[in-house]
Amino acid sequence: MTGSGTRCVAAVIGHPVAHSLSPRIHNHWLAAAGIDGCYRAIDVPPDRLGEAVAALRADGLQGWNVTVPHKTAILPLMDRLSPAARTMGAVNTVLCKADGTLSGFNTDGIGFLKHLNATVPHWPKDRAALVIGAGGAARAAAAALIDTDIPFLMLANRTEEKARGLAADIGRQRITTVAWDALSSAVTAAGLIVNTTTLGMTGQPPLPLDLSAAAPDCVVYDIVYAPLETPLLRDAAARGLAVVDGLGMLVHQAAAAFELWFGAAPVYDDALKSVLKSDLHKALA
Ligand code: ATR
Repeated sequence: MTGSGTRCVAAVIGHPVAHSLSPRIHNHWLAAAGIDGCYRAIDVPPDRLGEAVAALRADGLQGWNVTVPHKTAILPLMDRLSPAARTMGAVNTVLCKADGTLSGFNTDGIGFLKHLNATVPHWPKDRAALVIGAGGAARAAAAALIDTDIPFLMLANRTEEKARGLAADIGRQRITTVAWDALSSAVTAAGLIVNTTTLGMTGQPPLPLDLSAAAPDCVVYDIVYAPLETPLLRDAAARGLAVVDGLGMLVHQAAAAFELWFGAAPVYDDALKSVLKSDLHKALA
């Protein structure tokens, strides 16, 4: 389904951006909400970012999404930043105000948590969460989780120094780092395990994680969505653990952006789910 109008009302900028699922998601919601306009993917090379932001500002869009590699580079081009964008040092959503000013938001953390709460509402909050990785996605997951009731957060990354840097940036108590070779032992203590690395993605080796010591109620969340069922999730499901896939995080962060731009919360319905699954299937074929 595409937006009914040809007027561009929102967009995503990135480089490359052709593979982005965001136009599918937002055009589905624009059509469902009866909004006359469409959402486009715009390829913006890094050396054209300033120029592209000036053009988008002049174009009268409600706003736009920002993806790799611009999420951090766009920070100084914003007139205002939300607390989440500031904490994460990254913007994934820009809102254009009527007076032409630009506000930078980050909806990745909200998307991460909303999808977790929607999929496994009673995930164990009385034990530690283990976040694996220390890139932008780890930052979003960690910043969202530290604001929940979990007693502490464990961060594990191949390059441990980056995990320590992330812990310091979030700047809260209740965060510890775990050495990469001690990853499996952290599993025992975890009520929630989150993979934010690229391991398990099509063409990458699986995440080397032994789940045999995981508690029976431990929830395993993989933010990789290509493939939708990663080796980690397959292993977790085979052990009877609750699993959360990465596609929903993408949709929920998009929903938070749509709501900022158009003032209405869109729905992740079965029609959208099947369109996205079919797109992923075709992309991986
Ligand atoms: P994103 O912003 O999407 O999170 P990123 O910043 O490129 O992506 O981060 C990728 C993550 O995957 C990092 O935590 C990276 O670990 P390093 O910091 O040690 O590079 C992790 N990663 C990528 N390939 C890996 C591998 N082969 N083994 C372990 N971790 C890997």
